[in-house]
Amino acid sequence: MLRRMILVVGGAGFVGSHICKSLRAQNIEHLVFDNLEKGHSQAIVGSQLAVGDIRDPATLERVFADNDIDTVMHFAAYIEVGESVTDPAKYYRNNFQGVLNLMDAMRNHRVEQFVFSSTAAVYGEPKYVPIDELHPKDPTSPYGETKWNVERMIQSFGRAYGLRSVALRYFNAAGASPDGSIGEDHDPETHLIARALLAAMGKVPPLTIFGTDYDTPDGTCLRDYVHVLDLAQAHILAIKHLRSGGESRQFNLGYGNGFSVRQVINAVEKVTGMEVPKSEGPRREGDPARLIASSTKIREELGWNPEFNDLETIVSHAWKWRQAFPNGYGL
Ligand SMILES: NC(=O)c1ccc[n+]([C@@H]2O[C@H](COP(=O)([O-])OP(=O)(O)OC[C@H]3O[C@@H](n4cnc5c(N)ncnc54)[C@H](O)[C@@H]3O)[C@@H](O)[C@H]2O)c1
Repeated sequence: MLRRMILVVGGAGFVGSHICKSLRAQNIEHLVFDNLEKGHSQAIVGSQLAVGDIRDPATLERVFADNDIDTVMHFAAYIEVGESVTDPAKYYRNNFQGVLNLMDAMRNHRVEQFVFSSTAAVYGEPKYVPIDELHPKDPTSPYGETKWNVERMIQSFGRAYGLRSVALRYFNAAGASPDGSIGEDHDPETHLIARALLAAMGKVPPLTIFGTDYDTPDGTCLRDYVHVLDLAQAHILAIKHLRSGGESRQFNLGYGNGFSVRQVINAVEKVTGMEVPKSEGPRREGDPARLIASSTKIREELGWNPEFNDLETIVSHAWKWRQAFPNGYGL
């Protein structure tokens, strides 16, 4: 019988849960594997869930033995860049060793299709923008290092064992399901749009704008915010590519637009009608002035056609979810 199940590792998290919603909408068979340390079972109602940890090879082995998995999508990781600097061992153990465990289990069960959540952090300080996939890779944090090292490991596995993979390098994932049913609930919340909404609601301390003297139009950093549903579309295209026999690929995911910290705060204030309490602080080490993607490659090769390339739309979807879940999924 043809194996057709996708294992969605880390599927109860922010990005993974939105991909699961798209998989359900398209009746694509899948199983979520998540330890729920950072994820939320409420975000994946309707998807099957196996609770387990990628740092535990025995549990992984059982999941592959018990299910007809042909493809793995991997979202599970620790994601706080600052924490990765102070505790790199934690990051290497989960974000690198965990993936090695997963890929060993895949090899044991002859699962040869892999979609990996990578990041703009693999590039480090940009030498030019927009950043294309050939830009030098020189991560400036252990978080970025773990992601780049995994990408290299995936490539070696491809050469040696026939693994076919798509690495998707997201820039800044943001937004929420337009129906307000699922959204972004990180603890701590370090992502600007989600945090600005919480600051406007008085649920976190005032925002600090880190650096106002960058060489950008308003002096604050520019980032490329990409709607999580456009990420979901890219993942489904990646699955189709691999399932139709496509070769390994690496793609950036961003719109090619940069928005400054001040522009984001203005958009949040406009959408919510509330003021975002804020103060100005010094630059943070390792924060480039501009991180902007060229996504020409995925548009041309996989036909990625983003639908939500609009900052106010992204903010209003995130706000709709936050209004429905003012305390996140927990309460
Ligand atoms: N959110 C962004 O802006 C962004 C940008 C670039 C890359 N990424 C990458 O995308 C992926 C998803 O990001 P996110 O924002 O959804 O993160 P998230 O923290 O919301 O989701 C990660 C999920 O993985 C699970 N998990 C973590 N460690 C695990 C383990 N050892 N075993 C099993 N499950 C585990 C968590 O419980 C959580 O549900 C990550 O790999 C991240 O590095 C995210």
